[in-house]
Amino acid sequence: MKGTIVIALQDLVKNKFGQENWTDILKKSNLPEDNVFYSHYDIDDKIVMTLLQNTCEVLNMTLEQTAEVYGNYWMNEYAPKKYFAFFVRKKTAKEFLLEMNRLHSKITNKIKNARPPKFEFEELEDNKIIMSYYSARNLELIWIGLIKGVGTYFNEDIKIKKLGRSKVELTFS
Ligand code: HEM
Repeated sequence: MKGTIVIALQDLVKNKFGQENWTDILKKSNLPEDNVFYSHYDIDDKIVMTLLQNTCEVLNMTLEQTAEVYGNYWMNEYAPKKYFAFFVRKKTAKEFLLEMNRLHSKITNKIKNARPPKFEFEELEDNKIIMSYYSARNLELIWIGLIKGVGTYFNEDIKIKKLGRSKVELTFS
């Protein structure tokens, strides 16, 4: 997975939970303490999953809690600075989410091995959509955490109703 995903995790842990926790996570993951990740490089999915799992262990949080904190950090602190171009002109959470296929393929089209997630949308009403998530990585909890982060960014309350493992109904208000 693209290095930026791990850099956001690293920044989140360092800034919100302290450098020593990130050092512990690296050690537990058998990576050197001074390990440097590059945003545009591909990092083996196994390493990403190990780092995520060890983040949960070191911070004593469930994957669901980590996913929520990560989604919030990505959408409200990391991405608006690093990927500001995707945020201009977007006025609502729904509008932003409907762009996610285009954004992910655009941002990964030059990266070797990138396999960005895919989404399917069904618009039920003006403020209600069904969103499905497709990825062999099965990071459903991260997906939900990011949807919540989108709600926070646009200052909207998004009601999330699970319709299946990777299918949700979203109501925007
Ligand atoms: C400006 C906003 C965003 C940017 C720049 C962005 C970019 C990326 C990039 C570069 C990856 C790594 C893909 C790869 O290496 O294959 C990724 C992964 C992912 N993104 Fe986003 N993303 C954004 C917002 C979102 C949002 C709002 C959602 C959910 C609604 C989302 C869902 C995911 C998931 C679940 C993954 C993990 C990979 C997987 O499941 O296969 N992203 N994103």
